[in-house]
Amino acid sequence: MERDNANDVLMLAIETSCDETAASVVKNGRKVLSNVIYTQIALHTRYGGVVPEIASRKHIEKINQVIEEALKQAGVTLQDITAIAVTYGPGLVGALLVGVAEAKAISFAAGIPLVGVHHISGHISANYIAYEELEPPFVCLVASGGHSHLVLVRDYGEYEIIGRTRDDAAGEAFDKVARAIGLGYPGGPKIDRVSREGNPDAISFPRAKVAENEYDFSFSGLKSAVLNYLNSCQMKGEGYSQADVAASFQKSVVDVLVEHSLHAVKEFGYDRFAIAGGVASNSSLRGAFERECAKRKIGFYCPPPQLCTDNAAMIGAAGYYEYIRGIRSGFELNAVPNLKL
Ligand code: KG4
Ligand code: ZN
Repeated sequence: MERDNANDVLMLAIETSCDETAASVVKNGRKVLSNVIYTQIALHTRYGGVVPEIASRKHIEKINQVIEEALKQAGVTLQDITAIAVTYGPGLVGALLVGVAEAKAISFAAGIPLVGVHHISGHISANYIAYEELEPPFVCLVASGGHSHLVLVRDYGEYEIIGRTRDDAAGEAFDKVARAIGLGYPGGPKIDRVSREGNPDAISFPRAKVAENEYDFSFSGLKSAVLNYLNSCQMKGEGYSQADVAASFQKSVVDVLVEHSLHAVKEFGYDRFAIAGGVASNSSLRGAFERECAKRKIGFYCPPPQLCTDNAAMIGAAGYYEYIRGIRSGFELNAVPNLKL
């Protein structure tokens, strides 16, 4: 058994908000003892995106197996678990419900306290796993399939959103552009890969600014610009370079994310900056932030790619800080698809 002393908090964490069925055991919010992810990507690929009903069904099918595997890999049993953390929003309601119902059932049957966790708080907390010394305050960019948020992390679990997307999330833009240029789902990793063979300066796509809030994002204009470019090539009977479109689109997204984020770090007087969410695993984005933060002497934190995309370890980290603040959820805990941070 992995508990070194009686005060250690062993968190069993469950994440089912989208298309990954995931469970993890995390010690004291920082040390990952197991991190099991059953990804449904292959199932959804032929539909070009996540089909909510299929996602829910697959979660039901896999959840027990994934939890058992997480406990086994951590070398613990339910008797060793201090608390259960579960994502209860935001996300797909049917998918969230599977994790929430499972967590409540285990909590009830085994008499283990339950802690509901916000999915975005989880993404941000992946940084606590990757950097044992990292403590708030810092600024965090959360860029995923559903969100593009600039967040002031004032303390553990204390967030202020200073910028958000007005339309598409960054990951959504990656997925839509990938589909348009024939790369398929999931778009982010595919554009990332193909871009390496392309010229990021080949096509000049717009870098959108939002007049009312300098920290907000807007990606739908960029998406339309890419579609217009593809259309005009077609009308002229010309081909286009998939790699050049991918690389130029990606550069446009990266430029905007970097500029807005580092402007916020400066204006709010912070000296540390972290990234989180699926898009944070983008190699070009990571490289750009590394360079620009070094130039400005800003401490830069980025979790390894497997902790950027959906996983349960990050939920275990966020859940730990809720747990030690005395936060508990009752059996009335429900899935909240549009849960606010
Ligand atoms: O955080 P995540 O796994 O799930 C959500 O909470 O949405 O993020 C998934 C998103 C997808 O849109 C996917 O295309 C994008 O993250 N993504 C990437 C990369 N890997 C995943 N986007 C750009 N580059 C990547 N390497
Ligand atoms: Zn996510």
